[in-house]
Amino acid sequence: MANHEVTRRKFMWSAGAVAGACALRPLHSPLTFGEFRLRQSYAGGNVPLRDRAEKKGLLFGSSAQQKEFVEDPALEAAFIAQCNILVPELALKWDHLRPTPETYNFAPVDWLLNFAQQNQMKFRGHTLVWQEALPTWFASYVTPQNAQPLLLNHIAKVVGRYAGKVHSWDVVNEVIWPQDRRSDGLRDSPWLRNLGPGLIEMAFRAAAQADPHALLVWNENWLEEESATGESKRAFLLQHLKDHLSRGVPIHGIGIQAHLIGDHSNIGGAHFKQFLNQITDMGLKILVTEMDVRDFRLPNDIGTRDKAVADRYYEFLHTVLAQKSTIAVLTWGLTNRYTWTAHNSPRADGAQVRPLLFDEDMNPTPAWSAVGRAFDDAPSR
Ligand code: G3I
Repeated sequence: MANHEVTRRKFMWSAGAVAGACALRPLHSPLTFGEFRLRQSYAGGNVPLRDRAEKKGLLFGSSAQQKEFVEDPALEAAFIAQCNILVPELALKWDHLRPTPETYNFAPVDWLLNFAQQNQMKFRGHTLVWQEALPTWFASYVTPQNAQPLLLNHIAKVVGRYAGKVHSWDVVNEVIWPQDRRSDGLRDSPWLRNLGPGLIEMAFRAAAQADPHALLVWNENWLEEESATGESKRAFLLQHLKDHLSRGVPIHGIGIQAHLIGDHSNIGGAHFKQFLNQITDMGLKILVTEMDVRDFRLPNDIGTRDKAVADRYYEFLHTVLAQKSTIAVLTWGLTNRYTWTAHNSPRADGAQVRPLLFDEDMNPTPAWSAVGRAFDDAPSR
């Protein structure tokens, strides 16, 4: 890679680029006013997370949907105040982008990208290869003969459309699943059945060709647990990364989803730390891509629950941010008003779940303070 290329990549991926852009932010737009109001309301030491992250050379952000911004001005203001990176929760998945095999629905993505650009946020792409969120037509349409052009055309069209505007792409998502008992640890997904294990290399090379400037990420769940699943996923991922990198496959970083569970004490132990060191030694970036802390087994009492959730946030981020290769932290939703865990991991007592950084009334939770402390305590990068 030429020197100027390295410099440009560094700039595009760094929080410094965001800080620089902030200086150019228009002073009188309504959204800036919303941000100003929110910043005022946290006066007295409650500096927004994007500022605390930027101070350490980090990005902080969250997933969102267009309708949440359109229907909820409080969320919009909080997002603008707190985040310098945005990832669409749904809009870039196949089931949202591809209503039919021939057509694309780019409008919601265009809207969210514009929102991010207007508010000096970077933009993440999620995701190109995933076994879930496939359109209803997919199963009866895909064959070993058409799978390769189907995937390659999708990547060329989608990644190409947003080339130069995307900070990072989750090229593959959750492709390791040792429970499927393959010797390579890969998930027995529709993609794998039709394309074979070469699909990973194929997808990364196609993404690099379509956008030479985006950071290309391998995104995985359950990496942080000191359990048999966690250990096995880490081992298979390391093996695949070594193999792919040795063949020059353009993988630039790993995404640790970090959907933590509030009462799991086996998170982020010695084996996980060793894994982070190995990722760093390979020259890869680390992104925390989908963090939340599920509270479904925690006690009902809100004070107790919030403390446990906040403790998990701090412990985990303290460990991951100790690595200077970690460049970004994103939560999966910003407020408990909108969280997939309400459906996926509801509480047996029927109480509202509290996995995120803002509560139902858009007040910052102890988890918000914990994330801020983790940024404050992190080394600069
Ligand atoms: O919007 C429709 C609604 O109109 C309909 O009535 C309802 C009936 O089921 O479905 C609603 O859509 C759901 C959508 O979430 C919005 O809530 C879909 O069924 C549901 O499949 C979809 O789930 C999303 C899931 O990915 C699949 O795309 C979750 O919101 C989203 O949080 C989740 O995100 C994933 C990451 O992409 C990858 N890592 C794990 C993470 C959590 O599962």
